[in-house]
Amino acid sequence: MKIELEDVRHVYAAGTTFEVAALRGVSLAVEPGEVLAVVGGTGSGKTTLVRHLNLLLEPTSGRVLVDGEDARVLRRSELRGRIGLVFQSPEEALFAPNVFEDVAFGPRRMGVGEEEVEKRVQDTLQRLGVAHLADRSPFALSGGEKRRVAIAGVLAMHPEVLVLDEPTAGLDPATRGELLDVVCGVRDEGGTVVIVSHDLDEVAEVADRVCVLECGEVRAFGRAADVFYAEPRYAPATVRTAALVARDYPGVGRPVSFRETLAALRGVLGRETT
Ligand SMILES: Nc1ncnc2c1ncn2[C@@H]1O[C@H](COP(=O)(O)OP(=O)(O)OP(=O)(O)O)[C@@H](O)[C@H]1O
Ligand SMILES: [Mg+2]
Repeated sequence: MKIELEDVRHVYAAGTTFEVAALRGVSLAVEPGEVLAVVGGTGSGKTTLVRHLNLLLEPTSGRVLVDGEDARVLRRSELRGRIGLVFQSPEEALFAPNVFEDVAFGPRRMGVGEEEVEKRVQDTLQRLGVAHLADRSPFALSGGEKRRVAIAGVLAMHPEVLVLDEPTAGLDPATRGELLDVVCGVRDEGGTVVIVSHDLDEVAEVADRVCVLECGEVRAFGRAADVFYAEPRYAPATVRTAALVARDYPGVGRPVSFRETLAALRGVLGRETT
């Protein structure tokens, strides 16, 4: 599925003294099968932007297209099943008496049969490493557990596009790594992922393309290496290190992920010592 935003503006509390123009003419496309990262400062419009992808928020002006069709003509329930959005604060999504029921809600609402629902719930809880929490109240969990249950609830709908709003904020490194593995797993299975993150090292690990937002406008958009090397302010430690070393050793090239950077540095060191 391809999602396009065409000159999308979003104004909160329009016409009041609290009016905020959160998106000021954003145009971009989310391509099928990619991991697109949305980065930018606090208040730059990231959450507002991703909430437009399944029309949880509607543009004040401009359009959202799904496979070329105006998203407004599609049924909202179908749209939200195909484009699954995990909120920035998991509390917003949890509501059922226990974790199993919470995760089962989405697929049931889509009309999935009960046997298949049970299978999906068990599979997704397993995948997120929270199968042991199935009978617990979703409100009596730790922050990281709630986050994983909220993601399971969306994944159980088998969305074509998974949208994650700061899914790893405040998680320990091991849990963060597991979640990033889930993101890569979704992509490897042919799904599309849009991930909002403040952690540029994490973005460097998973993103094919990067969108940088500033004050509700797209500051940069493109392949991760192109954006990072053009916008040092938004570059992860790997890129800043490689860019510094490349002044003396141009052979370093433009690595992005930790593994690529390590290989590039080893490459130039190896040549130097021979
Ligand atoms: N419900 C709302 N009503 C009014 N203004 C809002 C509302 N939600 C967000 N805003 C404003 O819109 C702008 C963009 O907010 P948004 O939540 O999209 O930012 P963000 O990039 O996700 O920030 P963060 O990194 O803190 O999550 C901010 O100026 C914010 O104050
Ligand atoms: Mg946000």
